[in-house]
Amino acid sequence: MTDTAIPYALDSTLALPPIDVETPCFVVLESAVLHNLDETIKAAGGAHRLVPHVKTHRAPWIVELILSRGVTAFKTATPREAEMVLDAGASEVIWSYPTLSAAAIKRVIGLVGKFPGSKVVGLVDSFEGLQIWVNLLAGREYKNLALAVDLDPGMGRTGIKPGPEAIELAQSVDRALNFAGWHVYDGHIQDADIAVRERRCLEVRNELLALLAKGSELGLRTALVAGGSYSFAIWAKHTDARVSTGSWTFSSSQHQHDLADRHWKVGAYVLSTVISGRNGTVTVDAGSKAISPDMPMDRRFAGAEKIVGMKEEHTIVMDPKMQPGDRVALVPRHACTTAYLYPRALVGTAAGKWEYRDQLGCER
Ligand SMILES: Cc1ncc(COP(=O)(O)O)c(C=O)c1O
Repeated sequence: MTDTAIPYALDSTLALPPIDVETPCFVVLESAVLHNLDETIKAAGGAHRLVPHVKTHRAPWIVELILSRGVTAFKTATPREAEMVLDAGASEVIWSYPTLSAAAIKRVIGLVGKFPGSKVVGLVDSFEGLQIWVNLLAGREYKNLALAVDLDPGMGRTGIKPGPEAIELAQSVDRALNFAGWHVYDGHIQDADIAVRERRCLEVRNELLALLAKGSELGLRTALVAGGSYSFAIWAKHTDARVSTGSWTFSSSQHQHDLADRHWKVGAYVLSTVISGRNGTVTVDAGSKAISPDMPMDRRFAGAEKIVGMKEEHTIVMDPKMQPGDRVALVPRHACTTAYLYPRALVGTAAGKWEYRDQLGCER
């Protein structure tokens, strides 16, 4: 096995670090991230229409890289991520996590005051949520704070049903604070078949555009932030919405399979050592504490022919090509929950060096 090519990965051009590193190790390939960024900006219809989610990487250096390509607005799931993008100089952050946790909302309101030159957008999907914002603001007015209404496109996670109550909520936001517009994440649409994906996404679009038109008749803004990895390019092509994918950053074994039309490269993997072998199986040193813990066990990564069993620190695999002592690249099925496990990444830089760079990991 050579140091420069990986025989077991989906992408045989993945580079291995030519240095001795302790494994398991989260490896990021900067050139692939840059390639993915350029492809994503193109599919979004320009940097001004892309609002990339940072939950995938939680890495300040990647935020800086995105800013350097002309993107100015970001989406985040947690207050800590919002803080990270504002610290990096973003002009807008959309905290896309409607919550009833007053403490979390208070923390984000603190950022509004701390970064007066940047716009902070929160989400609400209920009147209770709006009331918490109003109570915590206690009459203080911030020109750089606005709230958007989160719509549920059938995903069943968060968001208010598109309909009269959603309009009433938007009107209440408009009266109480500053209405930023609408937000929708259709992460339940995960069809590898492009025609099916497009049909399902356009059904959501039609329902939402009808709602936005009704809102517009009542004087509400029609600004919309929409989509994720499977749908953002469809939203970009068929609407004026700004679009928000996160998974573009590193892609994943799932996205390499389902989203070949995006032309993303694998931008991150877990470097692992084969530490043992017996009776037709080998054991690698990356277990459920190292890679995609939220995925079904037998599909947590690509890079071995078959995953037989997984423990905290070990995975038992069947792959006749793997020998004890080999170093292997395991491409996560879910890059977001993998990056989250590591406070730093070993980065193969665009300039051809290898260096560790910090990321938030599981910091909240
Ligand atoms: C609200 C929201 N927006 C955008 C994204 C990014 O989507 P994706 O990972 O599909 O690119 C996510 C991911 O879960 C999300 O929860």
